[in-house]
Amino acid sequence: MTALPPLTVSTVVTTLRSAGCVFAEDEARLLVIEARSGADLAALVQRRVDGLPLEHVLGWAEFCGLRMAVDPGVFVPRRRTKFLVRLAADLAPRRPVVVDLCCGSGAVGAALGAVLEDAELHAADIDAAAVRCARRNIGAAGGQVHEGDLYDPLPADLRGRVDLLAVNAPYVPTDAIELMPPEARLYEPLVALDGGADGLDVHRRVAADAANWLTPGGRLLVEASERQAPHAAEALARNGLDPRIETCDELSACVVVGTRPRRSTVESGGR
Ligand SMILES: C[S@@+](CC[C@H](N)C(=O)[O-])C[C@H]1O[C@@H](n2cnc3c(N)ncnc32)[C@H](O)[C@@H]1O
Repeated sequence: MTALPPLTVSTVVTTLRSAGCVFAEDEARLLVIEARSGADLAALVQRRVDGLPLEHVLGWAEFCGLRMAVDPGVFVPRRRTKFLVRLAADLAPRRPVVVDLCCGSGAVGAALGAVLEDAELHAADIDAAAVRCARRNIGAAGGQVHEGDLYDPLPADLRGRVDLLAVNAPYVPTDAIELMPPEARLYEPLVALDGGADGLDVHRRVAADAANWLTPGGRLLVEASERQAPHAAEALARNGLDPRIETCDELSACVVVGTRPRRSTVESGGR
């Protein structure tokens, strides 16, 4: 039998609450379940009190009903991104080819892999820590994870075959990074947050080449803020995709969906 931890749930709650954790009861419950011993629990609580995101302390995050591994230094999948997954799943044809670009932990791809039957699943990220983490989540869903800048590391034979290009890229405007909560600002890498002056630098690069990778009728889905969405939609339209903006009040989420027309001629560069 496991020895009783020296900290009780109620002392953990009090400690977390004094450190400013809003959901102290829920967090305490998770930390107590996760701890292998009393000393382990004390160490986990201390890391949380020091400011680490709960998911980095636990080593996992709940996303779309699944437990995703999230290593230190890797972006924690956000609740609102469930909307991107839902939309992509609703638009998927049979046996879809799916690419999760800017995959971070691979949460989006892994969640899609869990609901789509016989999907061919790929993911890519520029950050080595993210790729290592995504290999655990996406590998478990039978997918492959590639390391490099946007489309560069994808297998060439995916060109023109992708049904769903699901992208949650960084989209925080550079000047807004300092306004983010410390959990994000201090513990998530800048490359996962900083989207340039208006937050849409990566979106424009994703849009520029998307039509070359999508199959006719294939969809690019990109998360953005509601303010950014019309500009992201313009970038998709400039690059030969038919855009539409989808929002979800419940999750405070916004996704721009761009469809490659079925009778488009795609030239190199996608413009
Ligand atoms: C906002 S995070 C989202 C991660 C994941 N899609 C999710 O929703 O949890 C953005 C991710 O994009 C990656 N990224 C940023 N620039 C990139 C680039 N040029 N090529 C590939 N990945 C990039 C970052 O490393 C980070 O993992």
